[in-house]
Amino acid sequence: MENQPVLFSAVFILYVSFLGPFCASSGEESFVYSGFASTGAANLTLDGSAMVTTTGLLQLTDSMPNIQGHAFYPTPLRFKKQSNGIVQSFSVAFMFGIISPYSDASTDGMAFVVAPNKGFPDAKAAQFLGLLNISSDNSTSNHMFAVEIDTAQNTELDDIDGYHVGIDINSLHSKKSQHIGFYNDQHGGLLKNLTLTGSNCKPVQVWVDYDGETTQINVTLAPIKVTKPTRPLLSVPFNLSTVLTDQAYIGFSAATGPLTSHYYVLGWSFAMNAPAPPIEISRLPRLPCPGDNRLQKILQILLPIVAVALIFIVVMILVRRQQRYAELREDWEVEFGPHRFSYKDLFNATEGFKSKHILGVGGFGKVYKGVLRTSKLEVAVKKVSHGSNQGMKEFISEVVSIGHLRHRNLVQLLGYCRRKGELLLVYDYMPNGSLDKYLYGEDNKPVLNWAQRMQIIKDVASGLFYLHEKWDKVVIHRDIKASNVLLDSEMNARLGDFGLARLYEHGTNPQTTHLVGTMGFIAPELARTGKASPLTDVFAFGTFLLEVTCGRWPISNSAHHGRKMLVDWVLQHWHQGSLPETVDPKLHGIYNVDEACLVLTLGLMCSHPIPGARPIMRQVMQYLDGDAPLPEFTPATLNSSLLAIMHNEGVDPYVAQYPWSGNSLGTMTPDILSGR
Ligand SMILES: Nc1ncnc2c1ncn2[C@@H]1O[C@H](COP(=O)(O)OP(=O)(O)OP(=O)(O)O)[C@@H](O)[C@H]1O
Ligand SMILES: *[C@@H]1O[C@H](CO)[C@@H](O)[C@H](O)[C@H]1NC(C)=O
Ligand SMILES: *[C@@H]1O[C@H](CO)[C@@H](O)[C@H](O)[C@H]1NC(C)=O
Ligand SMILES: *[C@@H]1O[C@H](CO)[C@@H](O)[C@H](O)[C@H]1NC(C)=O
Ligand SMILES: *[C@@H]1O[C@H](CO)[C@@H](O)[C@H](O)[C@H]1NC(C)=O
Ligand SMILES: *[C@@H]1O[C@H](CO)[C@@H](O)[C@H](O)[C@H]1NC(C)=O
Ligand SMILES: *[C@@H]1O[C@H](CO)[C@@H](O)[C@H](O)[C@H]1NC(C)=O
Ligand SMILES: [Mg+2]
Repeated sequence: MENQPVLFSAVFILYVSFLGPFCASSGEESFVYSGFASTGAANLTLDGSAMVTTTGLLQLTDSMPNIQGHAFYPTPLRFKKQSNGIVQSFSVAFMFGIISPYSDASTDGMAFVVAPNKGFPDAKAAQFLGLLNISSDNSTSNHMFAVEIDTAQNTELDDIDGYHVGIDINSLHSKKSQHIGFYNDQHGGLLKNLTLTGSNCKPVQVWVDYDGETTQINVTLAPIKVTKPTRPLLSVPFNLSTVLTDQAYIGFSAATGPLTSHYYVLGWSFAMNAPAPPIEISRLPRLPCPGDNRLQKILQILLPIVAVALIFIVVMILVRRQQRYAELREDWEVEFGPHRFSYKDLFNATEGFKSKHILGVGGFGKVYKGVLRTSKLEVAVKKVSHGSNQGMKEFISEVVSIGHLRHRNLVQLLGYCRRKGELLLVYDYMPNGSLDKYLYGEDNKPVLNWAQRMQIIKDVASGLFYLHEKWDKVVIHRDIKASNVLLDSEMNARLGDFGLARLYEHGTNPQTTHLVGTMGFIAPELARTGKASPLTDVFAFGTFLLEVTCGRWPISNSAHHGRKMLVDWVLQHWHQGSLPETVDPKLHGIYNVDEACLVLTLGLMCSHPIPGARPIMRQVMQYLDGDAPLPEFTPATLNSSLLAIMHNEGVDPYVAQYPWSGNSLGTMTPDILSGR
């Protein structure tokens, strides 16, 4: 009996070594994965297409056809307490999801499996779910228990439909299977179908419970967040002790067929001899739903379109900006550089040429008031539309040279800007506007008294004298009239718009001499030859004198007398010795009669049809200042019958067109009388 202790200790060691791992797993083995990210993929044994995503999903298959993937709990579990004993009760819970690119179809399926090995190297994909192959199917040596979630119908495996749960023992011929659904406790335990694929992208919870004593296998399904239904979907009495090995691995297998699908496990728990611990639903990873994907895809398509559209819009804005501020610049303009304004500055100064800034509209275009941003200088910007480029160089060089002119009775030209078909002239702003507004009582302007008118006449004469004689070359104004006489803040009269008519002369075909000026102010020889001279300016100045003194338009359209020339009318009174009767009645007789008669007579002299009979501006100045006496005035003595004879005999026709006759202007076509 001395062997006895040895035998005893051997039995003890055997007992301990047998019990050891069992005790180590505490007999009540359990685990819970609420998502797989935090625990790490290392805990699971993965093969094939199985992987743990960065979000913590256990992805069993990817977008490849005919592949399989497996994920196993790393260590085997002791299902039987004793060798060839009975399989203990156990409980499994897991959440799974299927994402298929097709609305309702997916192949093939996935399974929870209990098997002696962690891998199935000889297994086939598709209908074999990565568990078995055609020859190993139904072999008792498989020692396999599985719960399949089959999304394809395989008649050779007696599948009931293409969307079922089945309990498999050693074979993919399920012991029992059921269309995927659950007994809804909330609706009196009615069977309700569950949709997994397509638009219903929600995980489904599965419980697999085995009772070792009653040998009952229950499989229960429910949508996520629904508590475990009291009635299982599948309940099969089967003694797993006849199938399972003492120790076995548990895990998942999934396989794709011709249609690819992603099979996911979101969470998993297990317990021996106890209910599976609850999975924390709040910690579960999200399924990559096709809706999200669709959104992503839409964004993927839409974003570049939106980006391209945005770029296009920005480019359009830039181009439009470019066009809006586009200017015309040519090489020859470089020498005039300093006199050039940028269109942008003028655009900003006039707030984009807003109509509320329009000072007036003339024959050449609109005049805007503006304030230059940098200098805060008030300016008047005249927008002249000009189609042709012809004569532009001459004109600009004249504009620039005129820009050098400085006189207290000239509106200072500050510079210009050129765009396509448009010329912008920048002048000093004259706060009191143009003289015509006062003469004809527009804009509620007060009536000017005689002294003011006399001063204005002297101012204009002085300005014109400067243009004709004081500058190193003769500058011809070409458009003297009340609307081109502007009043500065001190009511000094200043001549504006000088030389502008020249632009139009250049811009036209020299064959058809284009006459520019204003009706009533055009000297007869100018109408005939189109050639302006200082004396044509004097002619216009004469009309201006009459206009200011009489307060009348040079040509009036009265209903009684038809078109009537102011000059004819004044001359008529001169003949009758009743000149004072022509003086502006708005003065109410309060004026210096001598001065008024002097001005009227001088006006008639200046408007003489024969250029040689007109005084020059130097003389005009002397007469106005009283420095020289006014010479005897002798009007042209031609009568209309004599004119007709002269005309027929080929006498110089300009005489025939002189304006005294009153109808001579009527023979001019409006076409050659642009400017108003
Ligand atoms: N520098 C300026 N300062 C203030 N107002 C001005 C200035 N220049 C022009 N204006 C105003 O703008 C109006 C229009 O001027 P514009 O020269 O275009 O026309 P006009 O003199 O009536 O005819 P024309 O085209 O024959 O010169 C003028 O009547 C005047 O009231
Ligand atoms: C997973 O493995 C880590 C160590 O690698 C261990 O700390 C953790 O408890 C394991 N988790 C489970 C559920 O077995
Ligand atoms: C099926 O699997 C078994 C092992 O499980 C293997 O021996 C056999 O060769 C496989 N047959 C085929 C056709 O792959
Ligand atoms: C599986 O094998 C059992 C006996 O081992 C047999 O009764 C059963 O018919 C087989 N099933 C299939 C589908 O071959
Ligand atoms: C569930 O789906 C199956 C197969 O499509 C159908 O035959 C059955 O009537 C459905 N059951 C319910 C409760 O909708
Ligand atoms: C299986 O379900 C039945 C009810 O259908 C229940 O009586 C039994 O206890 C369940 N067994 C297990 C192991 O959950
Ligand atoms: C299950 O099978 C085992 C071994 O074959 C046997 O010992 C046990 O009695 C069986 N249990 C039931 C309830 O039939
Ligand atoms: Mg003008």
